[in-house]
Amino acid sequence: MNKQILLNDGNKIPLIGLGTYDSSKDLVGDAVKYAIQEVGYTHIDCASVYENEREIGVTFKSMFNSSSNRKNIFVTSKLWNTEHKPERVLAACKKTLGNLQLDYLDLYLVHWAIAFKEVEGSESKDENNIVRTERVPIIETWKAMEELVNQGLVKSIGISNFNTQSVLDILTHCSIKPVVNQIEVHPYNNQTDFVNYLKKEDILPVAYSPLGSPGSIGKNEPVLLQDEQILNISKKYNITPAQTILSWSFARGIPAIPKSTNNQRIKENFEAQNTKLEKTDIEQIDRLNRNYRFMNPLNWWGIPYFN
Ligand code: A2P
Repeated sequence: MNKQILLNDGNKIPLIGLGTYDSSKDLVGDAVKYAIQEVGYTHIDCASVYENEREIGVTFKSMFNSSSNRKNIFVTSKLWNTEHKPERVLAACKKTLGNLQLDYLDLYLVHWAIAFKEVEGSESKDENNIVRTERVPIIETWKAMEELVNQGLVKSIGISNFNTQSVLDILTHCSIKPVVNQIEVHPYNNQTDFVNYLKKEDILPVAYSPLGSPGSIGKNEPVLLQDEQILNISKKYNITPAQTILSWSFARGIPAIPKSTNNQRIKENFEAQNTKLEKTDIEQIDRLNRNYRFMNPLNWWGIPYFN
């Protein structure tokens, strides 16, 4: 069974979703199909910048042969940074809908609180290798997101990678509150203060890189899945390290979207919902925090986004 959490607009989001960041074009369709048909996933997390929405769309088309099939699946996508100008938001959303072969999205997120100059690809850089940005007030982007709800193209809207200041900006001017903020949360970056703040504002944190991003780990980076304390707790419950980490997230009421294109791991992650960790184990995992981000835009864009 896939548990769900109520959002501030009355819609519900499943506790676990299949992430598709970095899922290759040739594997992502089968992964989505397996997750939904064989395991029971009801949430697929997509983004235009992942460059695989077209392949996911082919799978959706083959599976959603009746509108009731479609209704059972919660589909998220994200507005890319080059599309923040309000007059570009509708077209960006329609392009994603076209690629995914859907009439509506369940959730559409502003992917980052930063606007890039419009280019063909995902970004352009200057001579110092710094990404070219654009001055677009974030609230203007948000107003265009609200319009998508009004037009029935998306059921809920939210944000991703927004810090407290950017959240406050939105809350100050919005007509529709963001339902979620999708952020990097795992035991090495548990973001407890921020998570509590978001919950107080009735914005649900959703965890990306929930396993510590094992697919894109650098040479000198910590490996969360091999953490000794995680391994010990896993032994105690006779579950895998990934299941321990995910059940910790679920115990905090935080949905997670682990990416996998491997059938066994897709199933394993889903079954993490079946474990209820004891309080002492949750607290032990809480203490592993080291404010460590695996996703750091400074390395990609030359902009100290989180500093
Ligand atoms: P794969 O697709 O081969 O399963 P995150 O969502 O934290 O970024 O983690 C995604 C990465 O972790 C991917 O490289 C994925 O590889 C791997 N992964 C996903 N599930 C598991 C799991 N249960 N155990 C180990 N690695 C996993």
